[in-house]
Amino acid sequence: MSAPLLQAEGIRVSYGRIEAVRGVDLHVGAGEFVGVIGSNGAGKSSLMRAIAGVLSPAGGRVAFGGEDTTGQPSHRMVARGLAMVPEGRMIFADQTVRENLLLGGYSRLRSDPQGVAADEDRMLTLFPRLKERLAQEAGTLSGGEQQMLAIARGLLSRPRLLVIDELSLGLAPVILDMLFPVLAQLNKEGLSILLVEQMASYALSVTDRTYVMENGRMLFDGASRELANDPRVLDAYLGRRKAA
Ligand SMILES: Nc1ncnc2c1ncn2[C@@H]1O[C@H](COP(=O)(O)OP(=O)(O)OP(=O)(O)O)[C@@H](O)[C@H]1O
Ligand SMILES: [Mg+2]
Repeated sequence: MSAPLLQAEGIRVSYGRIEAVRGVDLHVGAGEFVGVIGSNGAGKSSLMRAIAGVLSPAGGRVAFGGEDTTGQPSHRMVARGLAMVPEGRMIFADQTVRENLLLGGYSRLRSDPQGVAADEDRMLTLFPRLKERLAQEAGTLSGGEQQMLAIARGLLSRPRLLVIDELSLGLAPVILDMLFPVLAQLNKEGLSILLVEQMASYALSVTDRTYVMENGRMLFDGASRELANDPRVLDAYLGRRKAA
């Protein structure tokens, strides 16, 4: 069997004396849609930051595309094909929507301006709401539109793996009903996705496989379809209903 696209082994993340991630394994195969669920403070974002090169892990190893990328900074990871939509989206509020979007294609802007323009068009087809707002300051967008912009910006770097930390944060169900199918479509077209998601029911319905993380450790993982009926998941993350 060929090596997975992303393989993280024994990852540790510490902030001073706080051990946020305590030896975690996670992998994503090419073309896979993988979810991570867990309570607040479980260490999900810290793990994603270690994988995406936003921080250097205190221990463990990250391999992407078959090469050791442990501790490589995020711009190097983007160039290798791993883009992250961070928790809170990190939109530049006083720059226009278009300026924010083009940041995702920054490294190719000189060498391949036509390719970037074509990708920009594709993003605006994917998220038509951004099209009429291109010249607007990004801070004036709604939360849902900002999330669309953050995803489009990530996609503009032509990633093989898109990491999204908290897609649903602060968004109305009507927006989520639009965003999740877009991710499913992108995955169908071949993009691998690693999604951290607070709303477990959404995550389990759209992903192939899900990891459950608590207190800096992976508790278990499995096929999302099976975990959606697993008592451990029903009780802790889906608010199991009492039998009638
Ligand atoms: N920059 C930081 N400095 C110090 N401690 C931090 C920092 N970032 C996170 N932590 C701590 O690390 C632990 C894990 O936090 P992390 O944000 O990774 O969890 P999470 O699972 O993403 O939580 P949430 O669901 O609330 O987003 C928490 O105890 C948190 O307080
Ligand atoms: Mg988080």
